[in-house]
Amino acid sequence: MHYPLTDERRDAVLDGLADVWGHRPDVVGAQQIGHEWAPVTRLLFDRDEPVIVKTRRVDGEGHGGPAYLRREAAGLRTAEASPLDRRHLSPAALVPCLQPVRFLVMLSYPLLDVRVGTPVLELRAATDELLDQLAPVVHAGKMHAEPTPYDDPISFFETDPDLRVAKWLRSMWRGRGNIDAVKWRLYFVVVVDGEPVGMQDVIGVNFSTFGTVTSFSWLSVDHRGRGLGKEMRQAILHLAFEGLGAKEASSDAFVDNLGSNAISRSLGYAPDGFDWATRRGEPALLNRWRLNRQTWEQHRRSDIELHNVDACHALLPLS
Ligand SMILES: CC(C)(COP(=O)(O)OP(=O)(O)OC[C@H]1O[C@@H](n2cnc3c(N)ncnc32)[C@H](O)[C@@H]1OP(=O)(O)O)[C@@H](O)C(=O)NCCC(=O)NCCS
Repeated sequence: MHYPLTDERRDAVLDGLADVWGHRPDVVGAQQIGHEWAPVTRLLFDRDEPVIVKTRRVDGEGHGGPAYLRREAAGLRTAEASPLDRRHLSPAALVPCLQPVRFLVMLSYPLLDVRVGTPVLELRAATDELLDQLAPVVHAGKMHAEPTPYDDPISFFETDPDLRVAKWLRSMWRGRGNIDAVKWRLYFVVVVDGEPVGMQDVIGVNFSTFGTVTSFSWLSVDHRGRGLGKEMRQAILHLAFEGLGAKEASSDAFVDNLGSNAISRSLGYAPDGFDWATRRGEPALLNRWRLNRQTWEQHRRSDIELHNVDACHALLPLS
């Protein structure tokens, strides 16, 4: 049995591409690839980019079946304004293809579908896809600051850019996998106007016993100094206190890290003494800060939205 690309769907593809590419492309060939369970038509245009179109079965089997439809619906649900991946269009995705699917959800691991939205930014759980989009910032060294805000050891100190990105990714893959009652960490990519610009993590430390979290963040140098650092800290505090029921949040920053210390101070964290750490092997003094739930309540915002936090309750050792 064949499941050809119908003329109607072919026209929908061409209309969608016309809007994206600025002109209706000429089809110079079409090949049937895939197989009965996953029928695919490859359209060839008079240009370099082929478009692969999934020609869904309509009899409820194979890639026309319920699982496929659920997956596709989830993809469409996450459709965001972003550049189109022109090589992977399905006819169904073409309806919203001008706000195409870029941030796909990870259906089998809902912790990678947690989001926190504020009026100016979004914290999106750091999927590999998002990390890949953020990697050029790390490759270019745009997470650096002077004086060095990071303590040892950290992948950011690697001088070879390719190796730096590899070590950075590995550290997050390790961190994702190490979830236990003593320590867990959720990594979020900071997205502003569809662009990944930094990271904001929350780390549970003996959370099930004490309800304590700490945080870590960085922003691309191109996006600092306009309030995003404070906004993303407020977003992660909202997740911690409102979403996860934290009792206290801490933060550490080298005494010469003016931005991070200013954010902690302005959000009501209380000074909690000092600590020593090394950065690039050199000892330096850290300010320690603590924010209890009561003080957070006084500063809490009403315009921050949490999404899919149920996943945290299901999959993190919170109690
Ligand atoms: C720390 C960091 C996330 C802050 O982000 P940011 O967007 O630049 O900060 P904001 O614009 O939100 O500023 C927040 C506050 O810090 C102050 N601030 C920021 N940078 C400052 C600087 N270099 N000197 C003095 N004050 C500064 C702002 O005036 C503001 O104070 P206010 O709330 O009292 O008005 C960012 O600078 C960064 O990525 N630094 C490198 C990584 C880092 O230090 N991470 C944290 C510790 S590991």
